[in-house]
Amino acid sequence: MNDKLSHFVPKLIRSIELDGECYVELQDLLANFENASVMDVKMGCRTYEERELDCALRESKLRHDMYDKMVEIDENEPTANEKTLRAITKPRYMIWRETVSSTASLGFRVEGMRLQDGSVDKNFKTTKDEEQIAEAFMRFASSKKIRLKYLNRLYDLRRALMQSKFFISHELIGSSLLFVHDNNEAGIWLIDFAKTHLLPDNTKVTHRRKWELGNHEDGYLIGVDNLIRIFETTTSRTSERESTDRGSTNQIHYQQDRVETYEPSYLAFRIPAGK
Ligand SMILES: Nc1ncnc2c1ncn2[C@@H]1O[C@H](COP(=O)(O)OP(=O)(O)O)[C@@H](O)[C@H]1O
Ligand SMILES: [Mg+2]
Repeated sequence: MNDKLSHFVPKLIRSIELDGECYVELQDLLANFENASVMDVKMGCRTYEERELDCALRESKLRHDMYDKMVEIDENEPTANEKTLRAITKPRYMIWRETVSSTASLGFRVEGMRLQDGSVDKNFKTTKDEEQIAEAFMRFASSKKIRLKYLNRLYDLRRALMQSKFFISHELIGSSLLFVHDNNEAGIWLIDFAKTHLLPDNTKVTHRRKWELGNHEDGYLIGVDNLIRIFETTTSRTSERESTDRGSTNQIHYQQDRVETYEPSYLAFRIPAGK
C-alpha cells in the first residue's frame, strides 16, 4: 500500500483460498509485543452503512424485538405512541442505538479491551460520558509513558489521515483502531474494513461534517479529534497504579510533529477476505 496510511495498517502478506473461501493473511500486530494489552475502538458517528438505513426506511414493519431491546437499555426512550404499540421502526432503532454509546456524540466507542492480566472488558455499550471514557483509558494504559506514546501516535495518525489519498476517497464505517501496548511500546493501527467503500463519483467527504443521508460523511476525524482530546487529558493525570509506583515519567513530553517509524514484524493472522 503506497499511501500515507501504510504505517497504520497491518501489512497484507498474501491471499489464500481455503475450502473454496478466500482469505487474507495479515501481519500480526501483536507479534512484537510481550504480553500485549489490546483495545478495539470503533470509529465514526454511525456504524451502519447508508444503504442499510435506506433499506430499513423502506421497511414499514413495526418491530417488537427492537422495542424490547430499547426499553432494556432505557425505558424512558420510547414515545407515548411507541409505548402504546410496544413497537418501533428499524430506522428509529438504528439511529437511537448510536446515541446510547459515544458513537453519535464523540465519533468513536470502545468495543472492548484485554489487559495484561488477561482480564477482558466489553462492558462499554452505554459508555458515553467523557470522564468514564478517560477513566477507561487510564485503566487500559495505567502508565503515563504509554499514554504519551499513544497520544503521539494519534497525532501522527491524524496527520497521515489528512494526507492520505485512500482516506479522502473512502467512507469508513464500522472500522476500528486497534491500540496495542506492553510495558515499553505502544502502537495504533486501522483494522476491519468490511464496511469501507469507495465514495460514489463526485462525492466528497471531510470526515468531520455532520452526516445527512446521502452525504456519506462518516465522522471518522471527529472520532480522532475526540480521542486526542481525551488522551491529552489523561496525560496530565497520574493513574492509581502510578501514584503507588513513582516512575520516571515526568521527563517525557509529547511532540506534535514527530515522524512515526515504528513497525512490528510480519507474523501471520488470518481473517476471511472481505472482512
Ligand atoms: N492484524 C491483526 N493483528 C492482530 N490482531 C488483530 C488483527 N486484526 C484484527 N485483530 C483482532 O481481532 C479482532 C477482530 O477483528 P476485526 O477485523 O475487527 O473483525 P470483526 O470485528 O469483524 O470480528 C480485533 O478487535 C483485534 O483484537
Ligand atoms: Mg471489528
